Amino acid sequence: MAVRLEHLTSIESLTPQLSNEVLDKADEFLELTRKPIVKLDHLRGKTIINVFYEASTRTRTSFELAGKRLGADVVNIGGSASSASKGETLRDTVKTLDAMHADAIVIRHPASGAADYVARHTRASVINAGDGMHEHPTQALLDALTIRRHRGKDFRGLIVSILGDVLHSRVARSNVKLLKMLGAQVRLAGPGTLLPRDAAALGCPAFDRVEPALEGADVVMMLRIQRERLGAALFPSLREYSRVFGLNAARLSLAKPNALVMHPGPLNRGVEISEDIADGSHSVILDQVEAGVAVRMAVLAFTAKPS
Ligand code: CP
Repeated sequence: MAVRLEHLTSIESLTPQLSNEVLDKADEFLELTRKPIVKLDHLRGKTIINVFYEASTRTRTSFELAGKRLGADVVNIGGSASSASKGETLRDTVKTLDAMHADAIVIRHPASGAADYVARHTRASVINAGDGMHEHPTQALLDALTIRRHRGKDFRGLIVSILGDVLHSRVARSNVKLLKMLGAQVRLAGPGTLLPRDAAALGCPAFDRVEPALEGADVVMMLRIQRERLGAALFPSLREYSRVFGLNAARLSLAKPNALVMHPGPLNRGVEISEDIADGSHSVILDQVEAGVAVRMAVLAFTAKPS
């Protein structure tokens, strides 16, 4: 790997060229991992510690698989099973892991900015696996890889509509940055209460109805309603939300006939996306999951220090 990434705490850690190099490498890894021999040795002798203070199925499992497929030693610690549950600070936990000579720390945390904070207190490379409402950069990279594999490497002119709870979504924030950097046109839509006040600052048109955002879209990216971050009620009911903002066949018909339907998961079936669309012919949701392992392999390889 000619170029190295020190940390990946935000899409801002990347340039267009580096993003494409990471995606090219992830594409190679995806093809390799489809073959029966999947054990590679790029990270032999390295130690990766996955520290997850929030629930996760996809991200945690794929980082573990990614590290192991590249030959690393991988250790997982979770919030309730760690000394954080006894009152240890994040700083002390990180310094402890640093003293054990971790090469990479993968961190998911409910606080926005936690990944950058961790990066300031360790010599390890830090990879953000989702920090509060801030960013989830490997999710955006795996989404970009999925789009690329279906639509080619040139994102210019592609219309990507990101719909739903944009306000609370680190997935949306990372995707806006990466997709725009790669040349796509990004639209945002959702209830006015779930759109960020700084939508204009993100440089995308924002709509408080989903229909105008769906018209002619190449990619429809649905976001989960983040009940754990909602606090006060920001829309009348889940049934009302589904009726007005959920993706169903009638709404999807406004997009291009071959539009891709994406969702980072976990899905609230029947709320932001109907059953038939989640499992239908436009859906590439499981392709996203497959791309997740390959992208995390590539990111771990790019952040690894030479031995
Ligand atoms: N998309 C995503 O981050 O899913 P998990 O919460 O299952 O990791």
